[in-house]
Amino acid sequence: MPTLFDPIRLGEYELKNRILMAPLTRGRTGSEGVPDRMVAEYYAQRAEAGLLITEATAINAQGRGWRNAPGVYTTAQVAGWRGVAEAVHARGGRIFMQIWHMGRTVLPEYANGNRPVAPSAVKAEGGLPGKDGNRRPFATPRAITIPEIRRTVADFARAAKRAVEAGFDGVEIHAANNFLVDSFLRDGTNRRQDEYGGPIENRARFLIEVVEAVIGVIGAGKVGVRLSPTNSYFGISDSEPHVIFPNVAALLNRFDLAYLHVLEPKAASEVAPVAHLIRAAYKGTLIMNGGFDLRSGNHALGAGEADAIAFGVPFIANPDLVERYRYDLPLTDADPETYYTPGRQGYADYPTYKSHQSPAQRASAA
Ligand SMILES: Cc1cc2nc3c(=O)[nH]c(=O)nc-3n(C[C@H](O)[C@H](O)[C@H](O)COP(=O)(O)O)c2cc1C
Repeated sequence: MPTLFDPIRLGEYELKNRILMAPLTRGRTGSEGVPDRMVAEYYAQRAEAGLLITEATAINAQGRGWRNAPGVYTTAQVAGWRGVAEAVHARGGRIFMQIWHMGRTVLPEYANGNRPVAPSAVKAEGGLPGKDGNRRPFATPRAITIPEIRRTVADFARAAKRAVEAGFDGVEIHAANNFLVDSFLRDGTNRRQDEYGGPIENRARFLIEVVEAVIGVIGAGKVGVRLSPTNSYFGISDSEPHVIFPNVAALLNRFDLAYLHVLEPKAASEVAPVAHLIRAAYKGTLIMNGGFDLRSGNHALGAGEADAIAFGVPFIANPDLVERYRYDLPLTDADPETYYTPGRQGYADYPTYKSHQSPAQRASAA
C-alpha cells in the first residue's frame, strides 16, 4: 500500500513523495503582481514537497482582482517567476503554477472601473479588499461574450507557455472555488442559453477548451486541473454536483493530464461528498485535498481514495512539513492574521523544526 513517502509518477515527472503543497494565495507580490526574492525563498523553503503548486496567478489583467496577488502576463512578472522556478529547482523541487481568472469576484477598481465578467450576471456573495485594503462588496458581473471567451482561452494558453518559459514544470488550471472556470461548470452561476450553458457538455465546454488550448502549447504531461465540487465559496452552488463533477472528470479522461486535483473539505458540508464518484470516473492520477493530516493522508492513499495528497494550511507554518511528517514531529500553527499581509512575517520566517531546537536537543535527536 502506498504511503505519503513513496514516489509517484505525475505526468512527465517522477515525484520524490506524495506530499504536495496546495495552492495558497499569500498577497506578497505587490501592486504589479511581481514575485521577488522573498517569494522565491518562501517556495524554496518548501521544496521537499513532491510538488509545489503556486498561489493562483492571473492569466491577464482582466482576471486579476486579489490584492497584491501575482500575474503571469507582464515581462516583469515572468522574470520574477523565473527566479522562483530557479530557486525551487536549485533545492531539488518541482513546481507547477496555478493559473486563474477571478471572474465575477474581480472588483471594478481592479478593472479600470469596469464590471467583472462571468458566464451570467449572477453576483458573488460577500466582498474582497480593494487596493487600499478596505473590504468592498462585489459588483454584479456582466455575461462574457463569445469573442471574449475565445480571447480568455487564448490567454490561458499564453499564460501556460510563459510559465514553462519561465522554467516551471507545468501549470494547474484553476477550475475551483467559484472563479471563472468553476462558475461555468455550476448551474447556480451559469444561466447561459448558448453552447456554454445548459447541459453538462455545454457547461464543461469552457474548461475543455482551456485544457485543449493549454495542452496544445505545453503538452498534457505538464497540465493539472483543480475542481471543488462541494464548496460554496462566494455563494457558488450547483443543483446536482454529484452529476456534473463525475461527468467532467470523465470528459477529462481523454487528455492524459498530469493529474486531476480535487478539493473537498473533510468538515461536514450541506452537499454530500462527490470525490469518491470522481475517483470512480477518472482514470488518471488523482490528488485529494481538504483538511488532511499525516494519518488521514496515509489512510486515503492506503484505501485507494487518492494517489497523492495536497496540504494547504499545514505548509504555511511548517516549511519542513515533509520532514515533520516523516518523523511524526509536532506541527506549528499558522497565524491567519498574516495569511495575506505584505512582508516576511508569517510568510518566509516560519522556522523549521530543527532550527528552533537547541543544539543539545538537535544532537540528542540525531
Ligand atoms: C491562505 C489561503 C490561500 C489559499 N489560496 C488558494 C489559491 O490560490 N488557489 C486555490 O485553489 N486554493 C487556495 N486555497 C485553498 C487551499 O489550496 C486548500 O484547498 C485549503 O486550504 C484546504 O486544504 P488544507 O486543509 O490542507 O489547508 C487557499 C487557502 C488558504 C488558507
